[in-house]
Amino acid sequence: MRFSVKRAVVLLLTVFGTCTLTRTLYRVLACHGEVPRTHVVSILVQNWNQTQYRYNHKTPMVFVGGVPRSGTTLMRVMLDAHPDIRCGEETRVIPRILSLQQSWGRQTEERWALEENGVSQEMLDAATTAFILEVIARHGEPARVLCNKDPFTLKSSLYLSHIFPNSKFLLMLRDGRASVHSMISRRVTIGGFNLSSYRDCLTKWSNAIEVMLSQCMAVGQRRCMTVRYEDLVLKPRATMQRVLRFLNSPWHEGVLHHEEAIGQPGGVSLSKTERSTDQVIKPVNLEALTRWVGHIPADVQEDMDNIAPMLRRLGYNPNANPPDYGQPDPEVINNTQRVLRGDFKTPTNLKRWAQVSACF
Ligand SMILES: *[C@@H]1O[C@H](CO)[C@@H](O)[C@H](O)[C@H]1NC(C)=O
Ligand SMILES: *[C@@H]1O[C@H](CO)[C@@H](O)[C@H](O)[C@H]1NC(C)=O
Ligand SMILES: *[C@@H]1O[C@H](CO)[C@@H](O)[C@H](O)[C@H]1NC(C)=O
Repeated sequence: MRFSVKRAVVLLLTVFGTCTLTRTLYRVLACHGEVPRTHVVSILVQNWNQTQYRYNHKTPMVFVGGVPRSGTTLMRVMLDAHPDIRCGEETRVIPRILSLQQSWGRQTEERWALEENGVSQEMLDAATTAFILEVIARHGEPARVLCNKDPFTLKSSLYLSHIFPNSKFLLMLRDGRASVHSMISRRVTIGGFNLSSYRDCLTKWSNAIEVMLSQCMAVGQRRCMTVRYEDLVLKPRATMQRVLRFLNSPWHEGVLHHEEAIGQPGGVSLSKTERSTDQVIKPVNLEALTRWVGHIPADVQEDMDNIAPMLRRLGYNPNANPPDYGQPDPEVINNTQRVLRGDFKTPTNLKRWAQVSACF
């Protein structure tokens, strides 16, 4: 009897011990065998009023872009005038890290070499995410919704939509003849665009917007919206209502008066080096809409449909000089009269001090 009690106790202890050991071993193994979770970077920023904002890759984020000279700055300053949203100046480094990121492992051989050396795609994505988040979060005042405007980032919309799962995209579209006339007449250096040739710039415009539009379509209309510059300028109220609904942000009247929010806390911060600054200090107006008419060489004009096939695809008649863009709202006509009277001058603190060019 005594003997059998002892045996039962030993048996029980053995079973208990084995269970505990197995469980511990399982935990250790499970822990190490699990796919490592993406390292989540979190950034804390304080505003002028000591309110703290915490950001990570799941923060709602807006990317504004398009071919340069298509109203990307106007869109971002109008969003900046909204109290919930901050875009800020161009960061200039985000499109560069994105094109660098694309080049890593583009060739199968290089991709294989990276994996072989322990550099996985997942690590590269986490590092790129951390870089972009850090720059966007800290280069301006914090806000509930962060926004970034570097025109060429919209060539990478699909990738950005993966690394920032709650991001949305606003792709600015504009009559390419107007964008190209603007870059040529204002000498806005853009890598790859030959500013001595309307033919070359219109070809490059068409190629760039084609890439951006196909990326936008791949992201899908729930997260990427196209906005025409002409609509933004002619019908700012209806257009911004559509934009804010798309971003799930409440209507705010201030977006129609961005010029009054310049330099205000939580308002619009402007750049000394960007070429659009002297234009967006003015309220939304019609000055730039048809300035290109009469400046395009005849041989280019005749061959327009072949040089820039995207014009027709986007609904801009390549043979109309200019096409009918629509009728302006009365408040825009009023703004334009005030601008033509010379009511808005660039403040000296915002005058350009250096010619800084974008290179991509
Ligand atoms: C600043 O923050 C405090 C509390 O955090 C708040 O009561 C106050 O209204 C804020 N001031 C402004 C001007 O937003
Ligand atoms: C730019 O275009 C002009 C006019 O067509 C041409 O003469 C020049 O060689 C071009 N420059 C480059 C770098 O291609
Ligand atoms: C034009 O705009 C100014 C400033 O916003 C305003 O004071 C004025 O009443 C407007 N005029 C008309 C005719 O709408």
